Amino acid sequence: MEFNQVINGDSDRILPELLATGIKFDLICTDPPYNLNKDFGNDSDKLDLKDFLKVTEKRISVCRDLLTSNGSIIWFGIHHYIGFIQTIMYNAGLFYRRMNIWYYENGFSRSKKAPQTQYEPFLWFSKAKNRWVFNADDVRVPYKSTERLKNPVYYKDKKGEKKAWVPNPKGAMRGDIWCFPTLAGKKFEKEKTTHPTQKPEALILEIIKAFCPKDADGHYCGTILDPFHGSGTLGVCCEKLNRQGHHIKWIGIELEKRWCEIAEQRLNSVRTNSN
Ligand SMILES: C[S@@+](CC[C@H](N)C(=O)[O-])C[C@H]1O[C@@H](n2cnc3c(N)ncnc32)[C@H](O)[C@@H]1O
Repeated sequence: MEFNQVINGDSDRILPELLATGIKFDLICTDPPYNLNKDFGNDSDKLDLKDFLKVTEKRISVCRDLLTSNGSIIWFGIHHYIGFIQTIMYNAGLFYRRMNIWYYENGFSRSKKAPQTQYEPFLWFSKAKNRWVFNADDVRVPYKSTERLKNPVYYKDKKGEKKAWVPNPKGAMRGDIWCFPTLAGKKFEKEKTTHPTQKPEALILEIIKAFCPKDADGHYCGTILDPFHGSGTLGVCCEKLNRQGHHIKWIGIELEKRWCEIAEQRLNSVRTNSN
């Protein structure tokens, strides 16, 4: 199987084929259909709830079997059904690590009948109970207070001994709320394609940095799969990192030819851009 390519096809057929080849992935990072009646050019978002859960169950069990022994799944799932999806992950024997929130302030609402939607949840489950990859130092965030952090904070450890805590020069630990704007408005018109649910590159880059294994030189070197690749954001982010000297091997699968073509255009522009 060749890496660093988009496969135009049906994941429900291709995932079992990948499994049969013996290939494994360190990270499966995906944003599958939500079953919210979105128009992706197919009926994948328009299933009866029963069928949606049945197909999700199958997809998650094959994805589990495609993971390396310390691999992880990052699975975007919309508010309505995230509870079902989380239960399916537990039933598949995967191990809960975090329910993360992609928080954005620049959404908009057409209705006054309910609070405006400002987040999308995404689940992190690992294959193993005690082993996984999380590169905490690669995704640190700025400390909120700069003044307070000029002096150490003193505390007593378990033995009652006085200890000094000093801030990490790389920043504070990232929390499970990931704050990145949606691709709305003029600011993002260069990045936005016609795909109806394209994810921001900034968010996907941060997820890769957090969960992709690294080699001894500190380069990202894992294998990553996105079985619902859409406009190609996952592949584009991997290629952008590879242009900086990393060695990520990735595969994207997408049912619709037109989204594959958009992904190819985006990938070509990364690969030919000399900046
Ligand atoms: C939520 S979108 C992914 C958007 C993507 N994260 C991006 O940034 O562009 C889900 C995608 O899954 C695709 N899809 C639906 N069923 C599929 C299947 N069985 N196999 C492969 N792709 C599928 C849809 O066509 C759609 O483009």
